[in-house]
Amino acid sequence: MKETIKWGILGAGRIAAKFAADLNKTPGCELLAVASTSLERAQEFALEYNGKHAFGSYQELFSTEIDVVYVATPHTSHKEHTLLCLNNNVGVLCEKPFAMNQGEVDEMIQLAKEKGLFLMEAMWTRFLPTTLKAQSLIAEGKIGNIKTIAADFGFKAEFDPKSRLFDPKLGGGAFLDIGIYPAFLSLLFLDYPSKILAASIFAPTNTDETTSFVYRYDNESTAVLNCTVKSNTDCEARIYGDMGSIKLNRKFHMATSLTLMDVDGNEVETFDYPRDTFGYNYEIEEVNKCIANKQTESELMPLSLSLKLIHLLDKTREAATIVY
Ligand SMILES: NC(=O)c1ccc[n+]([C@@H]2O[C@H](COP(=O)([O-])OP(=O)(O)OC[C@H]3O[C@@H](n4cnc5c(N)ncnc54)[C@H](OP(=O)(O)O)[C@@H]3O)[C@@H](O)[C@H]2O)c1
Repeated sequence: MKETIKWGILGAGRIAAKFAADLNKTPGCELLAVASTSLERAQEFALEYNGKHAFGSYQELFSTEIDVVYVATPHTSHKEHTLLCLNNNVGVLCEKPFAMNQGEVDEMIQLAKEKGLFLMEAMWTRFLPTTLKAQSLIAEGKIGNIKTIAADFGFKAEFDPKSRLFDPKLGGGAFLDIGIYPAFLSLLFLDYPSKILAASIFAPTNTDETTSFVYRYDNESTAVLNCTVKSNTDCEARIYGDMGSIKLNRKFHMATSLTLMDVDGNEVETFDYPRDTFGYNYEIEEVNKCIANKQTESELMPLSLSLKLIHLLDKTREAATIVY
């Protein structure tokens, strides 16, 4: 079994920096190489986050002995950069959303399977202790049967047509960027809905700045979800059962605590999971374990779950008339 997993990072933007900071705090791995479109940026990044090699092109990553690459480019480049790594025989952890639509995700999964290489979507919330605890409380029957989920993710961003958030050429919009978190939460706890309702407000660039969506499930439950880049919202998630509820405390996508409540909304117990990381260490540990064990998929975040997720995103976008 490999003792130290050697990581490469492709794209030296904002999330790559936070990920690299957490990688430095995660045992059993090292940052072997970082590649950027700018050699200077790669060198600065490598210096700050203990990278051994810095490259001014993505292709050069494959001249090293990396075990896995973290793809941290904009949504619209995820497919291209994942295929680049797989074609160079290196497994991939690719940022969310996995790609722009199901057709792209199908191609990525097909190549990973053909090559027998590791592939996982970086849905890091899947691995947070709060998510795992919520699942175990529900399995223990603490809130009864889930009846409805309410979750929102919103922050106020200034409109900038050239920014990743608002530029359609970079897959801009609230839904794919942050709406994915409430959508994924509902998928994880209630599975795939039988009915999807959605409506968006659009920015001048025609990307969605607010999207509200409702899912209905065959087991008589619903999810009421929202995302926006126009307002700072509570960013809470609540899973209501017929015997109690669970609150993933704000901001729910990076929660360090959750509260179990009785049927009247009184607190029963709060579970705390303090950390000195951004929270990416949990997904990094999962990838390290998979690579060390020569697994091509994570059991917690399998490709079948990513396929369901992208299908759900496609269908919700269709209902909200969000088009790229
Ligand atoms: N998991 C999370 O918590 C989280 C948080 C934020 C974002 N994300 C995801 O991470 C991805 C990147 O987001 P970010 O906020 O880090 O974006 P960002 O700051 O704009 O960084 C993206 C990087 O990708 C590279 N790149 C390659 N082609 C590009 C192009 N055509 N236009 C712009 N940049 C290009 C650039 O790096 P080089 O020039 O150095 O190669 C750029 O710095 C998105 O898909 C987003 O959904 C995830």
